[in-house]
Amino acid sequence: MKLKRVVGWTAIAIPTALFVGVFIAYWMSSNECNDPDTAAPRNPMKAIVYCDYGSPDVLKLEEIEKPTPADDEVLVRVRAAAVNPYDWHYIRGTPYLMRIETGLRKPKITRLGVDYAGTVEAVGRIVTQFKPGDHVFGGRTGAFAEYVTVREDRAVVRKPANLTFEQAATVGIAAITALQALRDKAKIQPGQKVLINGASGGVGTFAVQIAKSMGADVTGVCSTRNVEMVRSIGADQVIDYKKEDYADSGQRFDVILDNVGNRSLSDNRRVLNPDGKYLLIGGGGPNDHRWIGPLANVANAYLMSQFVSQDMGMFLASLNKEDLTVLSDLMQTGKVTPVIDRRYTLSEVPAAIRYLEEGHARGKVIITLE
Ligand SMILES: NC(=O)c1ccc[n+]([C@@H]2O[C@H](COP(=O)([O-])OP(=O)(O)OC[C@H]3O[C@@H](n4cnc5c(N)ncnc54)[C@H](OP(=O)(O)O)[C@@H]3O)[C@@H](O)[C@H]2O)c1
Repeated sequence: MKLKRVVGWTAIAIPTALFVGVFIAYWMSSNECNDPDTAAPRNPMKAIVYCDYGSPDVLKLEEIEKPTPADDEVLVRVRAAAVNPYDWHYIRGTPYLMRIETGLRKPKITRLGVDYAGTVEAVGRIVTQFKPGDHVFGGRTGAFAEYVTVREDRAVVRKPANLTFEQAATVGIAAITALQALRDKAKIQPGQKVLINGASGGVGTFAVQIAKSMGADVTGVCSTRNVEMVRSIGADQVIDYKKEDYADSGQRFDVILDNVGNRSLSDNRRVLNPDGKYLLIGGGGPNDHRWIGPLANVANAYLMSQFVSQDMGMFLASLNKEDLTVLSDLMQTGKVTPVIDRRYTLSEVPAAIRYLEEGHARGKVIITLE
């Protein structure tokens, strides 16, 4: 009887404590926008800032303190930056699950953008690899700004001379994702048949070219208006999804790189060789699966992988200096050429994000600070 009562109370107390804990954490979640002591910047620079989650309307172009490089950092004057779906996930705080990390009620970090290219303006005391005047590119949170500071051992490398700042700025997230997924996860071999779903977008345009550079036989999936572009960057075959469904193509692929996630796992299995690999990169727009994003699909893929001969799962990329160097070489030798769709200015970042959110970018969308 006594034990029954204890169990009963526990069953009420634990969920209540959890609910109260989350509620308190939610309301305590804040950021520097709430700091009443924030003084006017003494050495100002323009940057995109957001204090609350929401649509791109929450973004503001503000004057904030220009950063000073620490001993091991370089100060880069940003000449161009690139927009990624990653950015709208951060602005909207979706899938909501990610807010455990990024701030429950308000974004912990109020700066936006990652991919940048620019000129080194100053270097810290112990920096040896860079000097003022060097042209560089890479990735750093807060890239939608006139300046960023980056540790010299992190995601910053020299820009090849044959690339413009705009081209170099496209590389960060999208090209690294394509490279690491195809090389490290799919481990593609010359002659293998690779299908890239969403071949005309940021990741896709790099994936087509990188897979070709590895000697694969590449099939790209895109809409009618992009067929010629995807062919022109090296795809051996192009499937126009407005006219044909790749899952019904009757072909078999060794690797499927899926940037769209619009077909079921069993549909993908149908066109995958028995020892093939299916890599889910992403997919979905700002209004899809707001709570958990693609996680349900990911869980299904891992579960399915246990019972089928094919390897199925999600791939998550990570920015690093070594792979930026690999990509720099691929671009220097002309094996990979970034595809640029539209250009916007720093004050137009909200419009750039709105455009990307429509889900039909053709290559990369650039923010230019020239
Ligand atoms: N896992 C990771 O580490 C990682 C890294 C980077 C990105 N991602 C995710 O990967 C996804 C793609 O990123 P992205 O930068 O390439 O996005 P993006 O530049 O916005 O690309 C969107 C592309 O998707 C194409 N598309 C839309 N509907 C399609 C359909 N039904 N079939 C085939 N293609 C279709 C569009 O082509 P059309 O105009 O021809 O329709 C457009 O070119 C996003 O969800 C992003 O969040 C994940």
